[in-house]
Amino acid sequence: MSRADRTIGVFDSGIGGLTVVRAIRRLLPGESITYLGDTARLPYGTKSHRTIERYTLQMGEILQRFDPKLIVVACNTASAHGLPALQAVSPCPVVGVIEPGAEAAAQVKGPVGIIGTLATVSSASYDEAILRHDPSKTIHSVACTLLVPLAEEGWFDDPITDAIARRYLNQLPFEVKTIVLGCTHYPTLLPSLERTRPDTRWVDSGEVTALSVDRLLKGSLGYRTESARGPLRILLTDASSRLREVGERFLGEPLGNVELVEP
Ligand code: DGL
Repeated sequence: MSRADRTIGVFDSGIGGLTVVRAIRRLLPGESITYLGDTARLPYGTKSHRTIERYTLQMGEILQRFDPKLIVVACNTASAHGLPALQAVSPCPVVGVIEPGAEAAAQVKGPVGIIGTLATVSSASYDEAILRHDPSKTIHSVACTLLVPLAEEGWFDDPITDAIARRYLNQLPFEVKTIVLGCTHYPTLLPSLERTRPDTRWVDSGEVTALSVDRLLKGSLGYRTESARGPLRILLTDASSRLREVGERFLGEPLGNVELVEP
């Protein structure tokens, strides 16, 4: 099989990365995608650097069995802690979600807010990446630990989510008018987030990552040559029926057959 026709491997700590798959499929519907969610070991966002890095390397190894042309680390937490280690050993290119999100944030005027898991925010990876693009940028970050369970509960547009989001977002100074959704789950909560902080520009790291995948394919990797809609293969390290239901909401289409793999 030619390189262009090979699959794109997408990895996440669980099912949240399906928001990134949704963005990639919207922009590049012809691509074949192999999604791997480490649902047996989620969440990554409360774990240590060493553990997240080790898990990321293991997930990268599993994806290599499918001979991908590219690996996308859809998980912000894994991108913050495991990306350089995976890039160092992977035979194919590996991209994360932080660099595209940071690049988009650096381009807007004024201070920027970052919201993410505790592990993502404490890594300061977004801050470092934004400052590489614009060393004068003012950045404020808040770890929003409770937002992941709210998204998994499906409370996308809910007064309880409004109250919790307000508590977190009020920690950002009033002048912050651009906020990076630095977690796979947060785009689903936009109805509540927008109500909580109107007139904000939200940077969806999944959407900007899809654009950067497109740039890579346009470059040396190549687009899949078949014109039919690309297949989506879903592999999980644990497949409870609840994860399936949540996953479908994140993906916006039925999950189809889910294969189980050992982490
Ligand atoms: N996928 C994770 C992220 O984007 C959120 C869920 C987790 O903590 O594992 O940071």
